[in-house]
Amino acid sequence: MLGYAFMGKAHSNAYRTIPYMTRPPLVPRLVSLAGRSTEKVAEAASRYGFETYCTDWRDLVGNDSVGLFDNCGPNSMHAEASIAAAESGKHVLCEKPLGRNADESYAAWSRVEKAHVKHMCAFNYRFVPAVRLAKEIIDAGDLGEIRHFRGRYLQESILDPESPMTWRLTQETAGSGAVGDLGAHLIDLGRYLVGEVSAVMAATRTFVPERPGGKVDVDDAFEAIVEFEEGAVGTLEASRFCLGRKNALSWEINGSKGSLAFDLERLNELQVAFRDPDSKRAGDGFRTVLVSESQHPFWEYWWPPGHMIGWEHTFIHEIHHFLTAIAEDRPVGPHGATFEDGYRAAEICDAILRSATTGSREQISYRGG
Ligand SMILES: NC(=O)c1ccc[n+]([C@@H]2O[C@H](COP(=O)([O-])OP(=O)(O)OC[C@H]3O[C@@H](n4cnc5c(N)ncnc54)[C@H](O)[C@@H]3O)[C@@H](O)[C@H]2O)c1
Repeated sequence: MLGYAFMGKAHSNAYRTIPYMTRPPLVPRLVSLAGRSTEKVAEAASRYGFETYCTDWRDLVGNDSVGLFDNCGPNSMHAEASIAAAESGKHVLCEKPLGRNADESYAAWSRVEKAHVKHMCAFNYRFVPAVRLAKEIIDAGDLGEIRHFRGRYLQESILDPESPMTWRLTQETAGSGAVGDLGAHLIDLGRYLVGEVSAVMAATRTFVPERPGGKVDVDDAFEAIVEFEEGAVGTLEASRFCLGRKNALSWEINGSKGSLAFDLERLNELQVAFRDPDSKRAGDGFRTVLVSESQHPFWEYWWPPGHMIGWEHTFIHEIHHFLTAIAEDRPVGPHGATFEDGYRAAEICDAILRSATTGSREQISYRGG
């Protein structure tokens, strides 16, 4: 694993939990953890249960004991390290966004694909039980024809103009701001649940262009109108400047026969509304499904109904899915996001940024593998 901070901790927790809480397709061995500072990476490796650590990720790539390379580094380290790992025969799980832009993400997808290893881009919100249940409802045709997708991802994380520079705030290390960091999740969920995006029109803002430690050259927030290939229209918005909003990812889908709504801060719930002309209750509006029954997605591993799970479980489900694909030589898609999904999300992110600059509606075309 490359990186031991926020995502490194979330992924490590998943590898540790999978063997005793699930029927593990493979039992992970935490071989080696890479960081930059010897003292910090040694401490994290010991706490998470890695056998050893290194201060150069290339040591992971050259380590024959490593079968799966898990990239939890900043965005600027995704493509190069993931490609190197795949080309040395390792399966690759890489955090989102896959690259800093579409070109870099395309290089990552096309080269990793050619290495004939399994690849997954860590869009973990596909692995919320309520989101998978929504996918099942949509795939069964219960929403009818989908007309709208409305996605919002709001945080207050950098509202304070005195909060210092981080790697998330420069193009060099992040690629983009709210677009690639938060918007990429919305884009992936829109693609997963509704279908491919064909065009966007957008506006971006950088509210605080200079912070202690340097200049910000990425977007702080964006608003976009999106068109889907199958005819649906929608809106996407993300910002890290929304006081009171902690990790407020929410979406709503409206179809000809029903609507679904989801809020990550209440992640065990799915709001459903179905139009049943024969029912006296037609028109009653939304009701809440508590997604915790044994027949609900992923609940076979957890607790009796109503004994709720949380955000960290998305990584357990996600990595379990990837280990299953490796163990059984099965495709990562359609439920797991592949590097191709990561690349396609990056094309949409780039189109949002282009539209914000040109002021025009951007038609999106996707490159082949
Ligand atoms: N799926 C999600 O919900 C989610 C949430 C947060 C972050 N992310 C993604 O995960 C990735 C990591 O984000 P994070 O929040 O964990 O960041 P972080 O800043 O908490 O951690 C980054 C890690 O990378 C290490 N690192 C940085 N530069 C390095 C270098 N040159 N060599 C070796 N190690 C280096 C740091 O020491 C740290 O351990 C990002 O791509 C981010 O977009 C995904």
